[in-house]
Amino acid sequence: MRIIVCENYEEVSKKAAQMILSQVTLKPNSVLGLATGSTPIGMYENLVSLNKKGDIDFSEVRTFNLDEYYNLPKENDQSYHYFMYKNLFDHININPENIHIPNGMTDDVDAECERYDELIKEAGGVDIQVLGIGNNAHIGFNEPTINFEKGTHLVQLEDSTIEANSRFFDNIEDVPKKAITMGVGSIFKSKKIMLVATGENKAEAIYNTVYGKVVPEVPASILQFHSDIVLILDKEAAKFLK
Ligand code: F6R
Repeated sequence: MRIIVCENYEEVSKKAAQMILSQVTLKPNSVLGLATGSTPIGMYENLVSLNKKGDIDFSEVRTFNLDEYYNLPKENDQSYHYFMYKNLFDHININPENIHIPNGMTDDVDAECERYDELIKEAGGVDIQVLGIGNNAHIGFNEPTINFEKGTHLVQLEDSTIEANSRFFDNIEDVPKKAITMGVGSIFKSKKIMLVATGENKAEAIYNTVYGKVVPEVPASILQFHSDIVLILDKEAAKFLK
């Protein structure tokens, strides 16, 4: 596990974008695993400006997002579809056919999860997976639980996650209670993983991820076993690491 501690959010965002830039430069048809949430927004801003300057070409890149709320229409401004187009896809030269996000409006959850896993497999697997981390150490929407889930599946969100995500909704009752997420197994299969975290409220989750026991109650702890993972943190998120 490599750990890079940055001065602030701007530096985290720049470093994370540079890693994607290197990946896509080396392999123009890379498969990127992408995350939503507030942390990667700065990274996406950097990628948009690199694309505008002609420094990164997304024309052959394929993307798979980690997760989507269940039963929230794509057009809803809190859906992860909406987020990804607003923060990245609408501003870069990506081929829309190469964008994949779980369909949270499916009538058949099992079929949708199977389809998503199959598409990742057909694409040759994820080359680099971008992750954020929840205050409870969730990755994707894999909440603390009693076993590590392998593939894409439907999850019930924890109260603490619903509360954390309510900052984006008018009121907490509007926050979806379920989501479709890649499993810890799918995440772990990525060739490379880059986890970004900033702020003091992530410090304990980061400490447990790096030094804690590998247990499904701390979903991100499994990352200790991955052979090519980098954490890009600001000083606050790294504050318990010595
Ligand atoms: C988002 C996702 C989540 C977030 C996590 C942190 O696609 O999978 O695991 O990465 O909840 O969110 P922020 O960055 O908003 O603190």
